[in-house]
Amino acid sequence: MLVKDTIIDIQATSNTRIKEVDFNNIPFGRVFSDHMFVMDYKDGAWHDPQIVEFSNISMHPAASVIHYGQSIFEGMKAFKNPSGEIFVFRPEMNAQRFNDSAKRMCMPEVNAELFVEAIHELVKLDRNWVSDAPGSSLYIRPYMFATDEYIGVKPSETYRMMIFTCPVNAYYTGAVKVKVETHYTRSVPGGTGFAKAAGNYAASLFPAKLAQEEGYHQLLWTDSQEHKWIEESGTMNVVFRIGDTLISPKPSETILDGITRDSVLQLAKDWGYKVEYRKISTDEIKEAYENGLLREAFGAGTAATIAPIEVIGFDDMQCKLTPFESWDFAPKALAEMDALKRGLQPDPHNWNHQVI
Ligand SMILES: Cc1ncc(COP(=O)(O)O)c(C=O)c1O
Repeated sequence: MLVKDTIIDIQATSNTRIKEVDFNNIPFGRVFSDHMFVMDYKDGAWHDPQIVEFSNISMHPAASVIHYGQSIFEGMKAFKNPSGEIFVFRPEMNAQRFNDSAKRMCMPEVNAELFVEAIHELVKLDRNWVSDAPGSSLYIRPYMFATDEYIGVKPSETYRMMIFTCPVNAYYTGAVKVKVETHYTRSVPGGTGFAKAAGNYAASLFPAKLAQEEGYHQLLWTDSQEHKWIEESGTMNVVFRIGDTLISPKPSETILDGITRDSVLQLAKDWGYKVEYRKISTDEIKEAYENGLLREAFGAGTAATIAPIEVIGFDDMQCKLTPFESWDFAPKALAEMDALKRGLQPDPHNWNHQVI
């Protein structure tokens, strides 16, 4: 772990690429800002945190991450308002989750204050890459991977942590159709489902591709033993409104505990909605739908904030929900979250960190 007063060596480049970027037309995740954070771990400690010009990195062909997959990441966003103020949303939660992931993957933890400070410094330096256009933001990707030059199955003794950022536009792609998965499994008790481990995503690609071939956008994962209890969607937690209650699967070792869901459901509580974190079965959803009580269903995650679900496909039936615009909670929560993240709303929970 690093000592509290570690100083990040900032080497700003004068070589900006920003003029090449058409901010009205940015493909998600393919445009990268001018700088990146880099820090290496060896001899039992993190060394030399620095911010340098964004560039390729070179790796040894035997780098341990390529063979045995010790790799974790985080995802978060910075937002700018029309007055030019920039905020990041609850970054200390990402730092905590990064360290929870690191522990599970037998990787070294990072000082949470340094994690947050690195993000502040990086965003400050690339402040011109954050657009204040509605829906736009700067996506921030912290990650860590094993770098030992050795092919043996054991925890690496060296690691690299990096952070880069990408300007992104509004993500809204319309309501999503999700397929309830009853054969493949994302996560098992005792496994790595709660961690943001790269391999979790690799393992989900094939089942998701099969669902896409059937016309769905994403999977709705169920538990590994009975395929009966709802867990989460590809990169989002899920929330159902049955009658007047908002229900979401309880945080557990098989689910990634999302910061967006936590925030949205806190807003719901603030507004007087009944909120339950508990097990929810596929039968309960079908029954609620048949009785006209399934009033809203949405995914919650950094990328989409709130993604309305229009179709839930089960093996034996499809639930088609009413249009998002007619719901009373999710559209209001989406607008509130956007205003909050841009510092345009009082922030009673002190979620926002102002960067500039
Ligand atoms: C598997 C999974 N579940 C849920 C989420 C939502 O988490 P958050 O709201 O912190 O972005 C994500 C995205 O990070 C994810 O990858």
